[in-house]
Amino acid sequence: MPDNFFRKHSSDDIFADGNPDLPLEIDLGCGDGTFLIKMAQHYPERNFLGVERLLGRVRGVCKNIQHLGLTNAKVLRLESSYTLEWLLEKSSVSRLHLLCPDPWPKARHHRRRVVQQHFLQCLHELLTADGEFLFKTDHPGYHEWVCEEIETFKKFQPLPWEDHGEHSFFYPKTDFQQLWESQGKTIHQLRFGK
Ligand SMILES: C[S@@+](CC[C@H](N)C(=O)[O-])C[C@H]1O[C@@H](n2cnc3c(N)ncnc32)[C@H](O)[C@@H]1O
Repeated sequence: MPDNFFRKHSSDDIFADGNPDLPLEIDLGCGDGTFLIKMAQHYPERNFLGVERLLGRVRGVCKNIQHLGLTNAKVLRLESSYTLEWLLEKSSVSRLHLLCPDPWPKARHHRRRVVQQHFLQCLHELLTADGEFLFKTDHPGYHEWVCEEIETFKKFQPLPWEDHGEHSFFYPKTDFQQLWESQGKTIHQLRFGK
C-alpha cells in the first residue's frame, strides 16, 4: 500500500525489499494473479507489478507471492487509470500487459473500455524508449477497437507476436484466457512498441 497516493512512485519505492533496478512490467487488472506469478517465477531478472481493484483478488495474489517468497512481484489495489496517470513515474515501464479486460460489448458502454486515446497517451509517457504494450481479448469487437485506437494515436508501431515459432516468447495464459479457450473462444493478441 503506498504511503502517499499523491506523489509519483518509482521502483525504489515499490521494490525496496528486492532489486529496484530491474526492468518493470505492469499487469493491468491482474485478476487472480496466475499470469503475474508465473511471469515473476520465469523472469527473476524483471520486476512485475499487478494492478487490481478487487480486494479479495489482491489478498489472494499477495498470499501467493508471500508463500512463494517472490521479491520481484507486487500487487497494488488501485484503479488502473489512476495508477498510470498519477502514481507511476514517466519512462519507467518496460512492458504493460492488458489481458482479457472487460470488453464492454454494448455500444453505449464503449467509452468504459480501458483503451482510449487518453489511456494511450498516458501509456506512451509511462513506457521506456523501447517499451511495449501487449493486449489480449476474446472479443473480436474489442480487438478491432484497439487496432483503430492505436492507428488514430499514431505513436505505436505493431510488433510481431506468435505463440510458436520465431516471434514467440514465454507468455503464460491468464485465468480468463484459460476460461475463454475452454469455452471454444478464440483469443486475439496484439503487441505494439513505441
Ligand atoms: C476480466 S478480468 C481479467 C483478469 C486477468 N487479466 C485475466 O485475464 O485473468 C478483469 C480484471 O480487471 C479488474 N479491473 C477492472 N477494471 C479495473 C480498474 N479500473 N482498475 C483496476 N482493476 C480493474 C477486475 O477487477 C478484474 O479482476
